[in-house]
Amino acid sequence: MSHAIGIDLGTTYSAVSVLSETGQPTILMNQDGDNLTPSVVFFQSFDGKDEPLVGIQAKNLAASQPENVVQYVKRQIGNPNWKFDSPSDVVYGAEEISAIILKRLKEGAENALGEEIKDAVITVPAYFDDARRTATKHAGEIAGLNVLRVLNEPTAAALAYGISSEKNETVLVYDLGGGTFDVTLMKINNGEFDVIGTDGDRNLGGFDFDNVLSMIIAEKMEAQGAEDIYTDEKITAVLREKAESVKRSLTTVEQTNVFVDYKGKNYKIPVTRLEFEEASKSLMNRTEELLDDVMEESGLAWSEVDRVLLIGGSTRMPMVHKKLEEKFGRQITYSINPDEAVAQGAAIQAALEMAGKGEGSEVLRELSSKVNISDVTSQALGIIALTNDVRKNSVIIPKNAKVPNKYSGVFYTRSNNQENVLVEVTQGDDEDLEFVTIIGESLIKLPGTWPARTPLKVTFHYDVDQTVFVELHDESNNLLGTFEIERQANMNQGELEQASRRIRELTID
Ligand SMILES: Nc1ncnc2c1ncn2[C@@H]1O[C@H](COP(=O)(O)OP(=O)(O)OP(=O)(O)O)[C@@H](O)[C@H]1O
Ligand SMILES: [Mg+2]
Repeated sequence: MSHAIGIDLGTTYSAVSVLSETGQPTILMNQDGDNLTPSVVFFQSFDGKDEPLVGIQAKNLAASQPENVVQYVKRQIGNPNWKFDSPSDVVYGAEEISAIILKRLKEGAENALGEEIKDAVITVPAYFDDARRTATKHAGEIAGLNVLRVLNEPTAAALAYGISSEKNETVLVYDLGGGTFDVTLMKINNGEFDVIGTDGDRNLGGFDFDNVLSMIIAEKMEAQGAEDIYTDEKITAVLREKAESVKRSLTTVEQTNVFVDYKGKNYKIPVTRLEFEEASKSLMNRTEELLDDVMEESGLAWSEVDRVLLIGGSTRMPMVHKKLEEKFGRQITYSINPDEAVAQGAAIQAALEMAGKGEGSEVLRELSSKVNISDVTSQALGIIALTNDVRKNSVIIPKNAKVPNKYSGVFYTRSNNQENVLVEVTQGDDEDLEFVTIIGESLIKLPGTWPARTPLKVTFHYDVDQTVFVELHDESNNLLGTFEIERQANMNQGELEQASRRIRELTID
């Protein structure tokens, strides 16, 4: 049997892990001998054909050739309008760019393990919506992987932390990575992983802190006479790269200097941690707001939280520790490796999925029968219904509801002998349609003989991957129609196959 791997597909860095037969997750070294692979793609072109570079080499070229580099593609996954036009004039979507990264990771794992890899679990932020989850799964498929499950990153981290013990703890997973922020409250009890609540912001991460520092540096350069910084793509890319490394320095030192060559002049820019923290206040406040929301919705007090699990490279920043220790009232230390735990958890889940199918060692099969993960929805889902002739969102599955599960709601036909009904599926809590997204719809036929106000039951089936199937029944439970949500961002089967072919043919270095 070949191994199933766990992949943490990060906004800035990715990692791959596999479980040993004895149940220990190990991180697989990539082709460059590193545990982490920058999620960066550099497009080089030979004879009009793309030959992308992925990882550290691509990252090193980002500042000098920004037009040929794709970074932070995770922020675009699930967005059908985002495209990258390569130097060989091939247009790639976010799924395909992610697939290029995943293919490189897959090949790295194959090198490390000396066997072909097919099956994988890929992680996503808990706050990812349905379209982004599906797009991530598609990226895996395009890369030639069989995606066993799309797993929430905080849940993966909790698995890595709590799998091998009989702990009974309430744990807050605080994940501030490169591009996304997730906060998840869960109970871990002897193999049971029970998510209580989750919230987040998929556009808040180290990237934004880099921007803050870039601005500080740019402003200081301007004060020293530099011109046109904000319109110069090259210097913007250079400053972004410098900012990231300065940010890391400011994690350990109180102040440092940045040296920048720009238009023939050398700039020496001093920056202090204090300055950086002051300028990052609004970002930190946003994390605090979300943290408070999760705590409040759970009804738990901070004193009932046994442990804070810090995940993501950005939790190394002293301001994060300060803020959390203020809330938690106790010192917070790393219980798990913040860069590797998510991939390790994914590897555990991958092995458990395989063991659940009767594959793998006795130890794993035993473990798989013991482990039980119950997650919650990160976004509310509903349908549009008429209330006093006004179209309003009517929630069927509330936010933080347990999944997998099914939820039903009843609504009514509008007129006598109605021929059909348009079921419009929404995502979001608000009654007001302006603040929700319509994620799918289907016109379902009715017998056409019923009086107005005949009840119809709509049922949403939510599976472990947080994908949704909808069913419509009449009063006597006869099925009227069913559909899977056809999301705008989804690639259809034909497009998927075409993308797979294209990516398969690419040589990726
Ligand atoms: N010592 C450090 N001090 C400050 N920030 C750091 C440090 N080390 C890493 N980071 C930041 O952590 C981020 C990367 O973290 P991580 O690898 O967890 O993110 P990711 O998995 O790529 O992103 P996401 O989980 O949001 O998709 C980067 O923004 C990086 O600059
Ligand atoms: Mg991450």
